Amino acid sequence: MKNQQVEALILQSLEHELGGIEVYQAALQCAQHPRLKQEWAQYLEETRGHVAALEGACAALGIDPRQELPGRAVVRDVGAALVEAIQLARAGGDPSAAQLVACECVVLAETKDHLDWELIKKCGEHLSGAAAAALRAAAETIEDQEDEHLYHSKGWCRELWVQSLGLTAVLPPPEEVQKVKTAIGAARAEQAAEKVRQ
Ligand SMILES: [Fe+2]
Ligand SMILES: [Fe+2]
Repeated sequence: MKNQQVEALILQSLEHELGGIEVYQAALQCAQHPRLKQEWAQYLEETRGHVAALEGACAALGIDPRQELPGRAVVRDVGAALVEAIQLARAGGDPSAAQLVACECVVLAETKDHLDWELIKKCGEHLSGAAAAALRAAAETIEDQEDEHLYHSKGWCRELWVQSLGLTAVLPPPEEVQKVKTAIGAARAEQAAEKVRQ
């Protein structure tokens, strides 16, 4: 494996999780649906745990967690742009519209978050030694949480949009009710929502 790129992945992931905390803090101020608020509060706590896990991974791999890399700056900028978009929507004064924007920004953030942890898991599988074991142990629990973050958020985003269009929405989305944690499960959940609309 290319160690430099493993380092870039860990540091980008750490930066993205730090940005994720701010995205969830901003999003929570826009959450109208009580279940969505509950869900995002849980994801915020889990995201804090992901920061701690990545700081631990840095220590295990001998990486300085404050080290600046060009890719890291890009991740930071994207995170800040998502927070800014949520704040802009909130300032617009339409709570439902702001909730939708926040939901879209969460989906965008969780898409990279999900990818990061899939890749970290692969690193754990292909590296050897104590550092690899630490990565595997962290990815074991966190990858599951990232599945939930991404698939459930996509469900919320779709159904809130559907509701805003004046169509029948399934809220909370089937992804959350069925506790979906796989892409296949997410496809089935979406189908279930479509059936309700037929
Ligand atoms: Fe995360
Ligand atoms: Fe996440």
